[in-house]
Amino acid sequence: MTTPTWIDAWTPQQGAERVRARFAEVFDGEPDGVWSAPGRVNLIGEHTDYNGGLALPIALPHRTFVALRSRPDSLVRLVSGQESGAREVDLRTVAPGTVEGWPAYVAGVAWALQQAGHAVTGFDAVVDSCVPYGSGLSSSAALESAFAVALDAVHGLGLAGTADGPDDAGRSVLAQVCVRAENEIAGAPTGGMDQAASLRALAGHALLLDCLDGSVRQEPFDLTAHGLALLVVDTKAEHSHATGEYGVRRASCEAAAVRLGVGTLREITPEALDDALARLTDGSAEGDVQVRRVRHVVTEIARVEQFVTELEAGHPEGVGALMDASHASLRDDYEVTCRELDLTVETARSAGALGARMTGGGFGGSAIALVRAEAVKPVAQAVAQAFADAGLRAPAFLVATAAAPAC
Ligand code: GLA
Repeated sequence: MTTPTWIDAWTPQQGAERVRARFAEVFDGEPDGVWSAPGRVNLIGEHTDYNGGLALPIALPHRTFVALRSRPDSLVRLVSGQESGAREVDLRTVAPGTVEGWPAYVAGVAWALQQAGHAVTGFDAVVDSCVPYGSGLSSSAALESAFAVALDAVHGLGLAGTADGPDDAGRSVLAQVCVRAENEIAGAPTGGMDQAASLRALAGHALLLDCLDGSVRQEPFDLTAHGLALLVVDTKAEHSHATGEYGVRRASCEAAAVRLGVGTLREITPEALDDALARLTDGSAEGDVQVRRVRHVVTEIARVEQFVTELEAGHPEGVGALMDASHASLRDDYEVTCRELDLTVETARSAGALGARMTGGGFGGSAIALVRAEAVKPVAQAVAQAFADAGLRAPAFLVATAAAPAC
């Protein structure tokens, strides 16, 4: 029998101690402070953000920690707990395409703050994280957001507010800064849901994010009170958004919006969907693709609204069917699932999950399952066994609760 592997979250103290200790070792002395930011899971509303739609992420207990000390010059020196050696970037040279690998997300945030008119200088920093890397749980947004609140604090920008009293308007500005860093310096054409989750989702709440205007509503989200749990499965199937299929999906949606004469697909209501699909059907292969992509986006936005209705009615167990429908739509119409994600979702359901779906961008990464509290272990066990039987790499598991934003 296969034993599931669990990914533990570090406590804030553990994370802070790790980066402080390493900082003292490599940079001498004390950092100006330690900041951290969470990864996220999206409950529903996938590939809707760049279409002006709705999404509903929560912040994970798993966080990225940064110990940072400001420098008077433009040099950025970075050390990661996940690799040996230091990386250096001169902020004066940062531009699209100039920084390789993960430092692009960090230098990108400093660059985007400067572009927004803030006098940000260089820094020495140690970063370490318990957010699984490349697992569709937004390790990159956690990295960006941790540096965004760190630079906000050391330069007195006053955008983040405090952990007890976060300033949502200021955090929305920081989220946009992080999106610019990711789109322009890291070169990943992502939509903004992840950064909003990491900076703006409050503990105990899901963040109803309206990507048309960036407004948010905090929806109380406490599955434990209902005897439920959210099981996250990192399938270990690799994914990357910097290249390829993610951008292709986004371009298809944008092309469909142009053909339909709308600014974003958000403008297509469920009532107008059939008519829109008929207009996109022109006998071409790309027309057929656009029909499926648009059908996913419009029905997915409606599912977010239904999901929130269930939550507000105090029926979280009622969202299972919506999760199942979301997965089917992402598999059949949006075509962003993969063998590991489909296997996870099917196995979790057969083992008693109330609903299950992939989360994040897809093409690998993670899935979530809504389960009764007592079913967490049996469902994880069933998924681990199914992967072993199929000869796949062992997945890893965590239980997600709605945790605190970057601070
Ligand atoms: C990735 C992107 C987000 C969003 C999701 C899909 O996580 O970073 O902007 O588009 O995929 O919902």
